[in-house]
Amino acid sequence: MDQLKKTFARCAQEGRPALVTYVTAGFPTAAETPDIMLAMQAGGADVIELGLPFTDPIADGPTIQMSNLKALDNGVTISSMLQMVKDARQRGLHVPVLFMGYYNPIMRYGESELLAASRTAGVDGFIIVDLPPEEAVRFRNQCRDAGPVDHRGPHENSLRNCRFLYISCVQNGCHWRHWHSESLLLELMKRVKHLSGGVPVAVGFGVSTREQFLGVTSVADGAVIGSEIITQLANAPAGQGAAIIQDYCSQITCRTVKPTEPHSVPENPHSSSSSSNLPVLEQSTEASRPGRFGTFGGQYVPEALTTCLNELEAGFNTAIDDPTFWAEYRSYYPYIGRPSSLHQAPRLTSHAGGATIWLKREDLNHTGSHKINNALGQILLARRLGKTEIIAETGAGQHGVATATVCAKFGMKCTVYMGSEDVRRQALNVFRMRLLGATVIPVESGSRTLRDAVNEAFRAWITRLNTTHYIIGSAIGPHPFPTIVRTFQSIIGQETKTQLAQQINRLPDAVVACVGGGSNAVGMFYPFSEDPSVQLIGVEAGGDGATGPEHHCATLSSGSGSVGVFHGVRTYVLQNEHGQISDTHSVSAGLDYPGVGPELAHWKEVGRARFISATDDEALEGLRLLCRLEGILPALETAHAIAKVVDVAREVGVGGHVVFMKEDNTVNPQDATLNATHRLLKISSGQLYAVVPCYRHNSENITEGY
Ligand SMILES: Cc1ncc(COP(=O)(O)O)c(C=O)c1O
Repeated sequence: MDQLKKTFARCAQEGRPALVTYVTAGFPTAAETPDIMLAMQAGGADVIELGLPFTDPIADGPTIQMSNLKALDNGVTISSMLQMVKDARQRGLHVPVLFMGYYNPIMRYGESELLAASRTAGVDGFIIVDLPPEEAVRFRNQCRDAGPVDHRGPHENSLRNCRFLYISCVQNGCHWRHWHSESLLLELMKRVKHLSGGVPVAVGFGVSTREQFLGVTSVADGAVIGSEIITQLANAPAGQGAAIIQDYCSQITCRTVKPTEPHSVPENPHSSSSSSNLPVLEQSTEASRPGRFGTFGGQYVPEALTTCLNELEAGFNTAIDDPTFWAEYRSYYPYIGRPSSLHQAPRLTSHAGGATIWLKREDLNHTGSHKINNALGQILLARRLGKTEIIAETGAGQHGVATATVCAKFGMKCTVYMGSEDVRRQALNVFRMRLLGATVIPVESGSRTLRDAVNEAFRAWITRLNTTHYIIGSAIGPHPFPTIVRTFQSIIGQETKTQLAQQINRLPDAVVACVGGGSNAVGMFYPFSEDPSVQLIGVEAGGDGATGPEHHCATLSSGSGSVGVFHGVRTYVLQNEHGQISDTHSVSAGLDYPGVGPELAHWKEVGRARFISATDDEALEGLRLLCRLEGILPALETAHAIAKVVDVAREVGVGGHVVFMKEDNTVNPQDATLNATHRLLKISSGQLYAVVPCYRHNSENITEGY
């Protein structure tokens, strides 16, 4: 019998509940982690979850995320975590240890390599928060062969094969206490026990006192304590964390436990625990893997999100098959200003000296960008699903403005998460969102940009799934979001096709769009994806032109992107060798994203689309060109594509036709002033800043100035 099974059986025999404790490896310092694990054991912890830090944990609260970032600052990697467990085992740690974390660092390290190393170090199992069931089966079967046993949340097919089940009780902002008082936890427990055939259950989230521990374990076999331990460690005087945690655990369990004699790692009974009595589970087929674009896409999310995503997928599929849904969507075309115009750019064409350049003017839509197409579609979907509140993330602020607009139109409460760095550099759009009645929440974690806003939006969504729909702004995130966003943005490519046929009765030779997450690009490209004569060209942000992801966000075109799992989806990602997501740079907030939509990743892989990049300087030159040659002021996102459409038009040559999508009509004065002041002012001789109103704000209030 393996260590976890034995542990829960022993607790049951002794007539006491199990305490499962969590600590992030390397928090507050890497050197203290073995001491803290030993202290937990001495205070009566029965199982230790050792958190594998990740830059972008979408399901964890602020306390755990803070500890993740501190641990990463302290240089923690999977290799150093394995060493921490080895050290602690040598000093007498005998309770089972589980690695708990997100899949990307594990994928990067290599599953089989990790299993072999875990066996040697004395790691007993894994909780991989975001591994989808179909992949969990593969990993679990490998665990069966290698020794340790994997664990994931309650998925019905695998319940019976788990060593214990971890239930995180958070719904609509309520911790387990509310469940308990309403007997919901008891009900849930009965159901889980029935489905699993009696597998032990530990319940977590919000447990911090002995009274709560006893409350939870009056119905469950154990309780998990994490955030409280991290908080106590964060508040502990330097070097005293382990002693404080030992006292704390003892208060919870009313026990103290002595370490066993030190022993050398190879003889460690934990490392040799056999899992070979586990049945081999049948691997699912490709067809049962939802939302894949080749090998990309999927749903790498915590269990808590799957029900809601399934509900969303079902609602979306019903809506798009229902002509009345589309009739309703189209009925708002006068409101959002569709169709947007398609026209030639004659002076830009002459400047390029090649193919005729056409502009698809998504900037003329209501709210000034393509984002309204998606925001409208998703709010109609949310209404069908009976949701009453909307949350959204935003980078440049255009998606936030579009979402705030449709929320005002349909009378829905709107909360927009925005990295505080973007709040600063996109102040005008913050002002617009607030005028429209939205609450804008600046996100202070991580790099304080779009990726952190997405993390925060997912976290917020998890706590209010029943009432709230998350209108994601790009073709990113877990299935079905990339498909939903592409569907609503495809109007761009469909209209372009029809309009060009009316004007020149032929397909274009190439379509060009900038790529942040990829919503405008996928919307333009998708309707042409089955027309092989049409080149699909995405332009990413090449940043300051230097190599290394911190200098750009050219995920597909720079050669520094690699396959990973980020924000719930398998796609190309900018990451380091440990699977931690890189900080990126772009002069434009809307392109400053270290991942990319999975469908674009697939088109790159199969050669259907080509991706190139434009540097900050090239984008500024593109901005200048469109202003001076066509009298159109583009946003910095669009400016990246302008820089390259000139090259594409030359490549295609005279007689050809290239459509370039322009999707925003506002240059944000903050971009000009804070990101690129001297370059912009040099280009515009001071005019640009002078003609655009400048809004200054702080997070509480906004004042207008010029
Ligand atoms: C005007 C504009 N264009 C493009 C983008 C890039 O996003 P996506 O690649 O999803 O179209 C953004 C993102 O905020 C934007 O605001």
